[in-house]
Amino acid sequence: MKKVVVTRRIFPEVVEALRACVDVDHNEDDHLWPANEFARRIAGAHGVLTTIMDRVDEALLAGAANLKVVSNIAVGTNNIDIAACTRRGIRVTNTPGVLNDTTADLTWALLMAAARRIAEGDAFVRRGDWKVGFTMQSPLGTDVHHATVGIIGMGRIGQAIARRARGFDMRIVYNNRNRLPPGDEERLGASWMDMHELLATADFVVVMVPYSPAVHHLIGAAEIARMKPTAILVNTARGGVVDDAALVEALRAKRIAGAGLDVFEGEPRLNAGFLDLPNAVLTPHIGSATRATRLAMCEMAVANVLAVLEGRAPPNPVNPQAA
Ligand code: DGY
Repeated sequence: MKKVVVTRRIFPEVVEALRACVDVDHNEDDHLWPANEFARRIAGAHGVLTTIMDRVDEALLAGAANLKVVSNIAVGTNNIDIAACTRRGIRVTNTPGVLNDTTADLTWALLMAAARRIAEGDAFVRRGDWKVGFTMQSPLGTDVHHATVGIIGMGRIGQAIARRARGFDMRIVYNNRNRLPPGDEERLGASWMDMHELLATADFVVVMVPYSPAVHHLIGAAEIARMKPTAILVNTARGGVVDDAALVEALRAKRIAGAGLDVFEGEPRLNAGFLDLPNAVLTPHIGSATRATRLAMCEMAVANVLAVLEGRAPPNPVNPQAA
């Protein structure tokens, strides 16, 4: 029987479905395996279900002679050396689509929380600092409605974010490697804008590009300096797209008004500077974290792994050339 390793705890019903077809080594403890433990588990396995925390590189693959498929339970695949997998004929798959709306919702939650200072207000109430019932100048936020949102990365999730912006009567500008066809721009009510102009124009800058070395620190000190002092930056894409040290510095100096962040460089260790900044709202990489969406992602990942092991084309191939 073929063997599949599942590197983190997932839903029992999904494991059961997998067990009906293959031998499963499921990490029910849910601790991130150190590299040597991961290597030991994967030696002899034919497939693996990974999360974004699992590094799949040359060194790991060298000890996994039987491996045919790496099925990432994520849309992003920057934890995987895809070229190395392709060289070895190992298929890589991901879980696109099912998390678009859920991630767009969380992006909006962060945008609104930063705009209306929700986390600050919550902490204020809990600390018992709310002594006067109502003050005219109590923490004042930023209006979302009728403001301009600038979306950097107008793929499936970027477009889901744009659709929500329409409900707030916002002006929507975007920047993307490839400009959308005019029909799509019209449908979304979004106009393409040069990156520099977008940074200077938007009241809310939302970063939604997949990580690759080409976009490392796409938003750094120079880009932040172009933003309005009243602007808010939201990153629900990947740590490393934003230069966190530069952002901490800018938030501390109030060069921009705030930030809503779900992803960080080197997470779960984050730049300690964020912790003291009331104008940053921080969440622990929960963009896709609803039960329905995570379940759908796990089911897709299982469908992908089984397809490859049963000799069929996987529904969500990342490196079809490895076939
Ligand atoms: C992804 O899918 O890439 C997210 O970051 C994790 O859900």
